[in-house]
Amino acid sequence: MTNKKRKRQGKNDSLNKNQKPASNAKPSSFLEKMRARLSGGHFRMINEKLYTCTGKEALNYFREDSSLFNLYHAGYKTQMSNWPEQPVNVIIKWLKKQSPSFIVADFGCGEARIAKSVKNTVFSLDLVSSDPDVICL
Ligand SMILES: C[S@@+](CC[C@H](N)C(=O)[O-])C[C@H]1O[C@@H](n2cnc3c(N)ncnc32)[C@H](O)[C@@H]1O
Repeated sequence: MTNKKRKRQGKNDSLNKNQKPASNAKPSSFLEKMRARLSGGHFRMINEKLYTCTGKEALNYFREDSSLFNLYHAGYKTQMSNWPEQPVNVIIKWLKKQSPSFIVADFGCGEARIAKSVKNTVFSLDLVSSDPDVICL
């Protein structure tokens, strides 16, 4: 395959042209670019799975292979870096204007950004996590 063809084909692959790699560092080599595309495609596959299965199935999915959780979050970060506003920041901003006595339950907390950003007591819950402050199901 010629480089030109490879480039054209790559544009239709799993990562669209506006996406950046999860690390936010610009991929320099061809191999890095291919890895970023693969990671974007993997994220979309996991996301689709989570949208279309039960909570129990999602839990088993991540339990069977916890590396999928890291892949999913790396991909989610990549997606978010292209959005004008991160949804979790909207919640944090709102919560900071409320009483610090509010007790918060953050279901599907991911990296527990809410708990790390406000004074309130926050219960952070997710399917799996390596963070000891996150309550796993
Ligand atoms: C798109 S991420 C959002 C993470 C975080 N809330 C944020 O805004 O950064 C969705 C999170 O929901 C979790 N999740 C998906 N399905 C779930 C379920 N059935 N029960 C609990 N958590 C779930 C995923 O593991 C993931 O961490």
